[in-house]
Amino acid sequence: MANESIIMQRHSIRDFSDRQVDSDLLKAVFAEAQRAPSAMNKQPWRVYVATGEATKRIRQAHAKASDQGGTVLFNAPVLVYITVPKGSASLTYYDAGAFGYSVLLAAVDHGLSSIPAYQFVRFPEEVIKEFDLPANEELAMGLGLGYPAADAATGKTPRLPLDQILTVHE
Ligand SMILES: Cc1cc2nc3c(=O)[nH]c(=O)nc-3n(C[C@H](O)[C@H](O)[C@H](O)COP(=O)(O)O)c2cc1C
Repeated sequence: MANESIIMQRHSIRDFSDRQVDSDLLKAVFAEAQRAPSAMNKQPWRVYVATGEATKRIRQAHAKASDQGGTVLFNAPVLVYITVPKGSASLTYYDAGAFGYSVLLAAVDHGLSSIPAYQFVRFPEEVIKEFDLPANEELAMGLGLGYPAADAATGKTPRLPLDQILTVHE
């Protein structure tokens, strides 16, 4: 479906190949994601990205913390952590969500697959340690980016019927 919008094309991938992502392509993804709207255009998000050896360090720390064998953090080669200032108002989390979703959509546009997952931020210490995160920043969400493993499931998830979520008054 060549004409399908990137919104319709995006879906989560939970098994990535070892193929690394070109650093210029990654920068293009984040430059586009920065076009996300935010209250008073404050752009409260900060983004910390692990690739290569940094990804391996976080994976190791995560495997230890979670006492988990096998595939760790979906084997994503690129780990993306979005922070907001500690003690932020709820609108700021809306901003961070808009930014995160923009990363997912820009990733599709650049041929990348993605997964947003709580698992990435389940053990904040592994991220704080790797990036020496400023004390006044709070981890809001984590995403994985990369290319799907050959046998990764690609099925699309269903959505609620539109009339269940939508109210329109005329
Ligand atoms: C805030 C958030 C947390 C999520 N946490 C997980 C997770 O821990 N594990 C997981 O496999 N998927 C996680 N997901 C992915 C969702 O399950 C997925 O987005 C949803 O089922 C819709 O499927 P789709 O992304 O393929 O459209 C999370 C998504 C969001 C937005």
